[in-house]
Amino acid sequence: MIKAKVAGIGHYVPEKVVTNFDLEKVMDTSDQWIRERTGISERRYFNPETDTVANMAAKAARKAADQASLDIKDIDFIVFATITPDYFFPGSGVLLQRELGLEGIGALDIRNACSGFIYALSVAEQYIKTESYRNILVIGAEIQSSALELTDRGRGVSVIFADGAGAVILQPAAADENQKILSTHLHADGRYAEELYVKDPGSSRHERLTKEMIDEVGIRAHMNGNMVFKHAVVKFQEVIMEALTANNLEVSDIDLLIPHQANLRISQFIQKQLGLSDERVFNNIMHYGNTTAASIPIAMSEAREKGRLKEGDLLCIAAFGSGFTWASGLIQF
Ligand code: UT7
Repeated sequence: MIKAKVAGIGHYVPEKVVTNFDLEKVMDTSDQWIRERTGISERRYFNPETDTVANMAAKAARKAADQASLDIKDIDFIVFATITPDYFFPGSGVLLQRELGLEGIGALDIRNACSGFIYALSVAEQYIKTESYRNILVIGAEIQSSALELTDRGRGVSVIFADGAGAVILQPAAADENQKILSTHLHADGRYAEELYVKDPGSSRHERLTKEMIDEVGIRAHMNGNMVFKHAVVKFQEVIMEALTANNLEVSDIDLLIPHQANLRISQFIQKQLGLSDERVFNNIMHYGNTTAASIPIAMSEAREKGRLKEGDLLCIAAFGSGFTWASGLIQF
């Protein structure tokens, strides 16, 4: 059976750097608290004059296409993961398609939050395997900062989230090629939907958006941080082991683990559970915060640039987040 391979990776983060010290000026928090609880030192916020979710994605996409030596015009399908689309509808997929001048090709939007990129990758992988498309652009991109409440009331959520975009190009792997996606694994448990969610504006009420909704924080993310944390550390390990077992592999076969960059403490917990050394886990949350669906492709791209992800490596990616959803993938580079 034909397998899919990751032929190119790229990322783009906005120029504006917001440090913990900048946040100290607008809310009751401290650099020490943020670093100790999350590992984050700084993050990027978009420029409303120039950045959109779709055009940040386009910048990441161009880099991924370059790395794959692919002419942008040869991209034949887009899968776009984001929970922060430019419009309520249509999704950002069509805006990216327009931005890249790819009128006519299909563009699919995925809304699975922190697991969104792996869900998107998994969908694209199936299209390659069934020979439906040959050059699929898979995106994770978010602008979270425009919805963050940078006040004492919002501090439990707002110090974590940030903006950025990552992209990969998926292509069919040649029969004799080592490079390939071995498998992806997707899960969800909707019983926990309201533990991490943005309630408003929602469609199933008389008015989608009222002044009260804005005043009562409904338009901001609500997160039961402790509960998310507790489930994350269990499910990350489970879904990583599921991927290894499905491929008759062991933890010792993983050359690099890239966990969704939710919180450095979560990444370190998983690393310890699995007994992986520091060289075999890549984290960049320190510099970018939690960019939801964008975090894994940004980290993949940066790990490659820094020489941490090399040809021949077995890469494991894993995510947990709103839904709850969780997912993993094993990729031979
Ligand atoms: O990517 C999507 C998935 N999301 C996650 O995986 C997030 C998972 N959860 C977490 O990362 C952590 O739960 C947080 C980083 C969100 C919070 O860390 P925590 O250790 O669970 O802190 P907490 O919410 O239990 O709060 C501890 C204390 C509280 O004060 P009291 O009640 O002990 O007096 C909070 O009010 O810290 C206070 N606090 C803050 N203090 C300074 C909450 N946010 C802040 C803040 N600065 N930004």
